[in-house]
Amino acid sequence: MKERLVQIESDAERAIAQSANLRDIEEARLRFWGKKGELTAVLRGMAALTPEERPAAGQLVNEARARIEARLSEAEARLTRLALEQKIAAETLDITLPGKRRSPGHKHPITLATEAICETFLGMGYQIAEGPEIEIDHFNFELLNIPKDHPARDTQDTFYIDDDVVLRTHTSPVQVRTMLTRPLPIKIICPGRVYRVDTADATHSPVFHQIEGLVVDRGITMGDLVGALSTFAKNIFGEDTKIRLRPHHFQFTEPSAEVDVTCWECGGKGCRLCKNEGFIELLGAGVVNPKVLKMCGIDPEVYSGFAFGLGIERVATCKYNINSMRLLYENDIRFLRQF
Ligand code: PHE
Repeated sequence: MKERLVQIESDAERAIAQSANLRDIEEARLRFWGKKGELTAVLRGMAALTPEERPAAGQLVNEARARIEARLSEAEARLTRLALEQKIAAETLDITLPGKRRSPGHKHPITLATEAICETFLGMGYQIAEGPEIEIDHFNFELLNIPKDHPARDTQDTFYIDDDVVLRTHTSPVQVRTMLTRPLPIKIICPGRVYRVDTADATHSPVFHQIEGLVVDRGITMGDLVGALSTFAKNIFGEDTKIRLRPHHFQFTEPSAEVDVTCWECGGKGCRLCKNEGFIELLGAGVVNPKVLKMCGIDPEVYSGFAFGLGIERVATCKYNINSMRLLYENDIRFLRQF
């Protein structure tokens, strides 16, 4: 038994010396002291000894066990300290390292243009109105005097959700909703996202943004429209900017016009950008068609109004000299940083 104990003690010493962490120590402890441990087996073996042999053997076992336990505890304390030291070292914070700067971010050119336009009209006493992007056909087309099968629908081909529900093709349905629900007089602008079945290129995108304006009151004329739009053009493109109206056709306005502004590149003298016109096309406008007023419950004998609609991307690309609308959607940080 003595030899066995010497063997166990030297095994234990080796196992403890080889322990790299607390788990190894725990394993060593089990190996010698567990239910099937080696020392436990020796203790059990004492039952086979004669009563005379037992005290001496018991002392031997106890001594060996005390020594092994002392080594285990010592190693345990050392490894606990080591683990703590390693943890502290790993978590060291070097406060002399340069910090990581978070860039604060800023507004997208579409947002900047929207805000600039809205501010101009808010300054003239307009209110902002909003409506859903998923719209009923009735508001997006019918009440704007664009019946089903009318060719005017082709230019605003849209994404149909079903026969009666569409992704709005313009913000004009917000005008309809306002006329149907708000008291007169009405003086609103409606900024928002709109959808059309267009292939993306430098000047088209299936999703884009518009701002439309609507004024309905007694005695509103084309003169009021010209006044509002010239103020808008001067505010956005500079004091010397003039507007020019060309006859056009919209189902919901009569008369209708396309509105151009003085070319910001040449100041109206004529250049490559404006194709020698001196003007650049910017938006659509007109006097609200009496039929539309009537369909929206307003008496066209008493009230009249004007409306206009412009693409925000168009204003943004013009105002910030951006040569393709696509840049606005790619979200390339090198592009966006410039604004
Ligand atoms: N709704 C028209 C469009 O999207 C723009 C417009 C609005 C024209 C109001 C005239 C008056 O094309």
